[in-house]
Amino acid sequence: MGSLRGISVAIFVVQALLASVTLVSAQGSTNGSRWQTLSGKAPSVIAHGGFSGIFADSSFGAYSLALLTSLPDVILWCDVQLTRDGAGICFPDLKLDNNSDVAVVYKDRQKTYLVNGVSTKGWFSIDFTLRELGNVILNQGVYSRTNKFDGNSYPIMTVQETYAQLNPPRFWLNIQHDAFYTQHNLSMRSFVLSVSRNRNVTIDYISSPEVAFLQNIAPSFQRSATNLVFRFLGQNDVEPSTNQTYGSLLKNITFIKTFASGIIVPKSYIWPVDKDLYLLPSTSLVLDAHKEGLEVFASDFYNDVPFSFNYSYDPVAEYLQFIDNGEFSVDGMISDFPITPSAAIDCFAHLGRNASKQVDLLVISSNGASGDYPGCTDMAYSKAIQDGVDVIDCPVQMTMDGTPICLSSINLIDSTTVAQSQFSNLTTTIPQIMLGSGIFSFNLSWSEIKTLTPIISSPQSQYKLFRNPRFKNAGTFLTLSEFLTIASNASSLQGVLISIENAPFLLEQGFAVTNAVLDALSKAGYGNKTDQKVMIQSSSSSVLMKFKSQTNYDLVYKVDEDIGGAQSSTIDDIKSFASAVVISKDSVFPENSAFITSATNVVPRLKAANLSVYVQTFSNEFTSQAWDFFSDPTVEINSFYLGGGINGVITDFPKTSNRYRRNRCLNRLNQIPGYMSPVQPGSLYGLITAPYLPPAEAPNPFLTEADVNEPPLPPVAAKAPSTSPNGTALAPTSPNGQPKVAAAAIMQLSTVFLAISLLF
Ligand SMILES: *[C@@H]1O[C@H](CO)[C@@H](O)[C@H](O)[C@H]1NC(C)=O
Ligand SMILES: *[C@@H]1O[C@H](CO)[C@@H](O)[C@H](O)[C@H]1NC(C)=O
Ligand SMILES: *[C@@H]1O[C@H](CO)[C@@H](O)[C@H](O)[C@H]1NC(C)=O
Ligand SMILES: *[C@@H]1O[C@H](CO)[C@@H](O)[C@H](O)[C@H]1NC(C)=O
Ligand SMILES: *[C@@H]1O[C@H](CO)[C@@H](O)[C@H](O)[C@H]1NC(C)=O
Ligand SMILES: *[C@@H]1O[C@H](CO)[C@@H](O)[C@H](O)[C@H]1NC(C)=O
Ligand SMILES: *[C@@H]1O[C@H](CO)[C@@H](O)[C@H](O)[C@H]1NC(C)=O
Ligand SMILES: *[C@@H]1O[C@H](CO)[C@@H](O)[C@H](O)[C@H]1NC(C)=O
Ligand SMILES: *[C@@H]1O[C@H](CO)[C@@H](O)[C@H](O)[C@H]1NC(C)=O
Ligand SMILES: *[C@@H]1O[C@H](CO)[C@@H](O)[C@H](O)[C@H]1NC(C)=O
Ligand SMILES: *[C@@H]1O[C@H](CO)[C@@H](O)[C@H](O)[C@H]1NC(C)=O
Ligand SMILES: *[C@@H]1O[C@H](CO)[C@@H](O)[C@H](O)[C@H]1NC(C)=O
Repeated sequence: MGSLRGISVAIFVVQALLASVTLVSAQGSTNGSRWQTLSGKAPSVIAHGGFSGIFADSSFGAYSLALLTSLPDVILWCDVQLTRDGAGICFPDLKLDNNSDVAVVYKDRQKTYLVNGVSTKGWFSIDFTLRELGNVILNQGVYSRTNKFDGNSYPIMTVQETYAQLNPPRFWLNIQHDAFYTQHNLSMRSFVLSVSRNRNVTIDYISSPEVAFLQNIAPSFQRSATNLVFRFLGQNDVEPSTNQTYGSLLKNITFIKTFASGIIVPKSYIWPVDKDLYLLPSTSLVLDAHKEGLEVFASDFYNDVPFSFNYSYDPVAEYLQFIDNGEFSVDGMISDFPITPSAAIDCFAHLGRNASKQVDLLVISSNGASGDYPGCTDMAYSKAIQDGVDVIDCPVQMTMDGTPICLSSINLIDSTTVAQSQFSNLTTTIPQIMLGSGIFSFNLSWSEIKTLTPIISSPQSQYKLFRNPRFKNAGTFLTLSEFLTIASNASSLQGVLISIENAPFLLEQGFAVTNAVLDALSKAGYGNKTDQKVMIQSSSSSVLMKFKSQTNYDLVYKVDEDIGGAQSSTIDDIKSFASAVVISKDSVFPENSAFITSATNVVPRLKAANLSVYVQTFSNEFTSQAWDFFSDPTVEINSFYLGGGINGVITDFPKTSNRYRRNRCLNRLNQIPGYMSPVQPGSLYGLITAPYLPPAEAPNPFLTEADVNEPPLPPVAAKAPSTSPNGTALAPTSPNGQPKVAAAAIMQLSTVFLAISLLF
């Protein structure tokens, strides 16, 4: 492979293999006239330094992954910097120390220069020849992203090499700092003109935040196919050639039109947010620019940086706001994660609320839509119903006066302000329930619990990701009966899932939880209800046995640990009392250091036994997902469904899962595009080089009969609270005594997506 440099650099090449996946054109299937872009065509995806959300910006790996996972006409973006000898390289920053190992290779070559009037210290490309940079390796410049691929030795590439090696469908050069290079007697103008005269390279767009640069090159590009684009920076930043702020330049887009055919604006120019990250009404910028004949490209799209709360941590929702809002569409979006805008444009835009389901994936809520409202409140449940959930869930807890209620946890501290209330002195330690102390629902009456303030859960708070602060204390708690009333009034629901935990303890203390549930269901008409199903979930087989003996409800066995497999005899046992199983994400795709290492055979084996498999918990926050899913919850859901073969998701953001199953890319049978293909388990992990590999982890244990089989439930203890009905002992079952068969074979997924291997 030809390096333009005369130095021998081991060029590692990421070879991307797309097996059984055929890329299809975005234009082919969408009705072009519906796009409110300037041209009326679908908006463009611009891969910012390639797929820089995963691999080092401007690296071969990043650009290859972008081509694999994006629309077929994706635009590859290259930030051009000039070397001392005038070569143009793709590199994201004026300073090479960010995004490469230059500071290690050339320890004492740090300099200080004025950049737009600001004294700036670092390693600058103008101090190195292209040959010298041959020893420098690209690495991940954004510290919050994984550095595990930094051992892949991706070299710095020239603009011409990038084009020749990647053969991009469309190519974009961004010239961020013409003035600086001019001060150092290097000419960006000469560089872009020479590249554009090279018949082997087609430049589709050249952008710059400097007016003088674009004015200067505009005459040379008048009759060319290359589009010039003016890039707006922060509203208060000063444009160096006019001394005006970008905010004031925005007031005269007629002026911009004299030298450019388009503009780039940070996304907040179009959809501003307030100080709390809530979305404000849109500006008229896109409509104004379109009137002027200017294309509008929005920048600053990152799946892994918190964006407005209005999107509920769902990046597809954010892209749709810019291209499918009924008023306007931007003409392109510049993203570090180009898979997500690609799917938004081709699979999700203009779907309509009633788009039909393409796949049979059951969507079960986790404490209602608890990503948006405090869990198990009226607001969380009505949001889940509004968002198209199939099944709403009630984790049943008992109050002191024997009322079954819905609460995410038996410990009130987890979901209420009880610790700050007059009931804080009810703190108890009960080892049978949990380690440490808590304030338990059965120590307060229902009327007392009703006075407590709900708290929204924020499971990713260790990463400073919090949920919907405006509604963090909204809603009211419900009894099981009130929950069932809400459910039976929602005609769109397929049913309810009622989960029961800690039953033996509760029964011993006199709380007849199982009878209370049966009683509430029967009173709410669910005894004989046929239009909605009742699912009873428990990690205790004895609870499910009791319901099996008295009802024909759907019984769901919850496996409450991560498992690596299950004995055949154990699966037979489960089948004897349940029709479905809930397992963790890790039991499907085990992870090490947030990389998926493989796929277990748990799902295929459970399904072969005719058990439905539901997986928990699918959340939108990017920190809850493995790196393999590109910080995009839709990619994760898709991989578990198409790749993992699961039957349902349990999610605190049902809107995202419901929209996923309606996306039009799923009905293309054998032509599922790259951005709607499941990721290949272990493919990213396989790209980590030895020095960066995390220590291997022991596989998860097998689920055994001993985990599943339990003694029958105890009878309700005599000191039952006055209001609680009495309990009944279960018909005991004995282990079936079948031989234990270890089945350790790991089944490979047949769907191949990211088979990326390293070659010399
Ligand atoms: C595209 O959509 C428009 C408006 O929704 C409709 O009038 C037109 O017939 C559609 N064109 C095609 C080819 O489907
Ligand atoms: C490196 O660049 C990234 C992206 O532009 C930026 O977020 C980060 O702060 C930079 N780091 C340093 C040390 O300059
Ligand atoms: C740029 O060139 C001019 C004239 O040839 C020279 O005077 C100046 O010192 C040079 N500047 C730099 C930074 O090399
Ligand atoms: C264009 O590509 C051909 C074949 O790869 C090569 O021989 C030629 O030198 C290239 N031309 C330029 C101007 O780079
Ligand atoms: C911009 O301001 C600087 C200093 O404030 C001045 O030297 C320069 O001439 C100004 N440029 C223009 C185009 O007004
Ligand atoms: C806007 O720019 C145009 C073209 O450069 C110029 O003729 C006009 O005076 C400017 N308008 C304002 C308000 O600055
Ligand atoms: C964003 O959410 C807030 C709070 O729910 C709401 O008041 C606001 O109208 C939303 N913004 C937009 C543009 O929908
Ligand atoms: C969507 O479906 C619902 C229920 O089937 C129906 O009431 C509603 O009118 C439909 N909306 C549209 C826009 O078709
Ligand atoms: C807890 O405090 C309340 C007063 O705030 C008191 O009435 C109650 O008896 C206390 N309970 C216990 C168990 O100490
Ligand atoms: C809480 O309830 C349990 C079970 O009824 C009881 O044993 C315990 O004493 C109660 N604790 C308090 C603080 O009331
Ligand atoms: C349910 O059906 C059974 C017989 O099929 C009947 O005895 C019972 O009354 C019904 N219960 C309700 C709540 O309708
Ligand atoms: C226990 O249940 C039976 C049957 O439902 C009922 O007749 C009896 O009165 C109950 N006993 C108590 C103490 O609630």
